[in-house]
Amino acid sequence: MTERKLTLTDSSSGKTLDLPVVAGSEGDPTIDITRLNPELGYFTYDPGYGTTANCKSDITFIDGAQGILRYRGYPIEQLAEQSSFLEVAYLLLYGELPSAAEKTGFERDITYHTMVHEQVNTFIGGFHYDAHPMAILSGVIASMAGFYQANLDVNNPEHRNLAAKRMIAKMPTVAAAAYRHYMGWPSAHPRNSLNYPENFLHMMFSVPAEAYEVNPVAAKALDLLFILHADHEQNASTSTVRLVGSTGANPYACVAAGIAALWGPAHGGANEAVLNMLNEIGDVSRVGEYVKKAKDKNDPFRLMGFGHRVYKNFDPRARIIRKACHDVLADLGQTDPLLDLAMELEQIALKDDYFVERKLYPNVDFYSGIIYKALGIPTSMFTPMFAIGRTVGWVAQWLEQAATAHRIGRPRQIYTGYGERDYVPLNERG
Ligand code: CMC
Repeated sequence: MTERKLTLTDSSSGKTLDLPVVAGSEGDPTIDITRLNPELGYFTYDPGYGTTANCKSDITFIDGAQGILRYRGYPIEQLAEQSSFLEVAYLLLYGELPSAAEKTGFERDITYHTMVHEQVNTFIGGFHYDAHPMAILSGVIASMAGFYQANLDVNNPEHRNLAAKRMIAKMPTVAAAAYRHYMGWPSAHPRNSLNYPENFLHMMFSVPAEAYEVNPVAAKALDLLFILHADHEQNASTSTVRLVGSTGANPYACVAAGIAALWGPAHGGANEAVLNMLNEIGDVSRVGEYVKKAKDKNDPFRLMGFGHRVYKNFDPRARIIRKACHDVLADLGQTDPLLDLAMELEQIALKDDYFVERKLYPNVDFYSGIIYKALGIPTSMFTPMFAIGRTVGWVAQWLEQAATAHRIGRPRQIYTGYGERDYVPLNERG
């Protein structure tokens, strides 16, 4: 079979270069440009890395045009319907669905690591009472490198695996503790008789004065949302984790950086922004006004929860969450006018030429907040909820990178500043 290549001709020098085409198992073919600078002296310019692959990965496949998302080959719809979050975590980390014994063993390991050092609670106590929980989450996860110094050798597969399990296990504990700090409640320790989402709900909402019963509808809904958020290939926060990891930094530092990246409203912070936006719109009669604002190029307002770098079709996760919204509200016996508002907004936007031409569809964040709200989770905790699910993706991608040969991540730039000029002493400056 002939190797596919692209031949590039430099019109100024007449030199040509054959660029190999690298094909993955699925997805668009990719041009390997690593010889471009050494041979022809050019860099490539790709702001926002819209057409640049930074790594090879076996973990997650997205076809943005078709609206397809698969973890390790399994369609997200099947995993959402039939799997559980910890089983998906195992799949993402180790590549295959676990056997019954492997599943039990993995669940036991995660459960074993749910507690945090008591000094972590002291550390959280040092934050201002209304600190955003994402600030607490990134700070506390970074601090864990100081708690687990004996197991930080990134070249040791056992240390890597232990750090991965610790972060998956402790993220809900820390997120819930951040909420309790805001509420002024005493810390709630994990209960290992509960499963992953049940345990989180217990740590969030139980108070010493009363018995707390986990609502199974709430636990099931959370498990689904964690599955849907678990990984999304090289998104901004995961790329951040990989970039920091490429320096050899410890995994807690990498994930703390990922949490910070997730916080932005263009990324995971959008779920909080969606609910704030829906509250601000307030009534179906004002939807048109906000759609108009979103289209106005002189107005920085964007329709939060709409659009995606990769999906130019319906985000498959949004489809699943929209249905879950209706189911969860019905199961909890609740109604929420914000759901009606969101559906009206979606309908108007999907028919509008501006959104149609730009292929802007609802994304994963558009409906998730309505479920979180129905479960009693406050708006400021929405992005930490995303972080709990995505921790699995971050550590899976970090493990994959750490186990394979890689170079430090180091993009180039187009310099547009001054040419060389002489230093001007202070007394001679105008
Ligand atoms: N409302 C109004 N216009 C939009 C929106 C929006 N939500 N999203 C994109 N556009 C317009 C944008 O102005 C641009 O128009 P033009 O071609 O006239 O300049 C065009 O659509 C393409 O947008 P872009 O900014 O070049 O697209 P991008 O791939 O760089 O950005 C995005 C993707 C998700 C950051 C963006 O769609 C956005 O800001 N959406 C709102 C925030 C959001 O919901 N984020 C969650 C993303 S999904 C979960 C996650 O990743 O965490």
